[in-house]
Amino acid sequence: MTELLLGQVIHFSGDPLRDGPEAAHHIAQGGVVVADGRIVALGEAAAMRATYPQAQVHDYGAGLISAGFIDAHVHYPQTAIIASWGKRLIDWLNAYTFPEEMRFGDPAYAAQVANTYLDLALDHGTTSMCSYCTIHSESVDAFFTAAEARGMRAFAGKTCMDRNAPEGLRDTPARAYDQSKALLEHWHNRARLSYVITPRFSPTSTPAQLEALGALWAEHPDCLMQTHLSEQVDEIAWVKGLFPEARDYLDTYEAFGLLGPNGLYGHAIHLEPREIDRLIEMDAALIHCPTSNTFIGSGLFDMAHLAPRLRVGLATDTGGGSNFSMLRTMAAAYEIAQLRHNPLHPAQLWWLATGASAKALRVGDRIGNIAAGMEADLIVLDLASTPVIAQRSARADSFWEALFPTIMMADDRAISSVWVNGRKLR
Ligand code: GUN
Ligand code: ZN
Repeated sequence: MTELLLGQVIHFSGDPLRDGPEAAHHIAQGGVVVADGRIVALGEAAAMRATYPQAQVHDYGAGLISAGFIDAHVHYPQTAIIASWGKRLIDWLNAYTFPEEMRFGDPAYAAQVANTYLDLALDHGTTSMCSYCTIHSESVDAFFTAAEARGMRAFAGKTCMDRNAPEGLRDTPARAYDQSKALLEHWHNRARLSYVITPRFSPTSTPAQLEALGALWAEHPDCLMQTHLSEQVDEIAWVKGLFPEARDYLDTYEAFGLLGPNGLYGHAIHLEPREIDRLIEMDAALIHCPTSNTFIGSGLFDMAHLAPRLRVGLATDTGGGSNFSMLRTMAAAYEIAQLRHNPLHPAQLWWLATGASAKALRVGDRIGNIAAGMEADLIVLDLASTPVIAQRSARADSFWEALFPTIMMADDRAISSVWVNGRKLR
């Protein structure tokens, strides 16, 4: 069946972070044609109606049709401990995160949280994400099963740790390798799912475990690898103590085969010049998690200098991040950029939450934009979802000015419809 979504449309012909806001386009009365899970065409509403007269029409009026949001770094097992008060990274992990992650050996609990999390994500317009799971294979099975049932393009992996974590949350180098490999062989490239090799961060892995996961990545270089890098100053000092031979934090990954073009490095706030140069040379991706960085008190990501030079994705980092919404996450990215005196344009913020995150995950040709041939993961937004937003938006002189109040103030009430793989889920 061919379907035609009518409304305002936002799409991109390039990267607004490199090419400027002109790479973003707005069609005031547009149409997006969808068939068999793919986007077939986009253009003026009248032209789309005339070319596809047999299509079933979904008229969203002034609603804004966009590619679905892509959350490039999230910990779905932390869904129930979001907004835990009063700690910085290491104490926050020990006090809140590890006790909760301990529960995911129970497949029923893992399934319950995975389903709750994915429904929350879809409610907020997030149609794809790259998630950490826990040490337990059950937590990976639960997540992928729930994502597959919803038809989602989803990325995830078993979070490996073999030191500096409590009993019950530690594996070994061999178990990390064997279980990750078994999960990879079962889930990778099944339906729209991708397995991601996932050492949590170098403080919770011995060199032997990092080496084992580096070996697994070398055997499956098409897989993504995700980890954390230079999030907080105390953490970096800890890494220095644990790896006295390392030149810097990135070197603790590089030395064990965990730096590569399919690597995703979360946070990356306090980088040394050598680290930046190596990340650029390797064409690695950084994932900016702004609500987490302010919530846990980590620091201010340097978007203006990094984004033009390497791929940067945007992420909630739930539950270190304080919100499931990529709208709120864009707002936080804007605020951090303001504190660095480099404001981001609304087109750049929207790109970060869609196309840039897709490129970080190496699926920029499939999701994250509206273009013929791409997968039909689409959302429709109400740009007047509350009276205050409606009032500000009504005074706008341009589309970008009309969109910005939704970026800064809207929540899940702004998400009017969600399409995944060409199916209307909400
Ligand atoms: N570093 C290592 N693990 C984590 C985590 O779960 N959340 C955040 N924000 N940082 C981490
Ligand atoms: Zn994280």
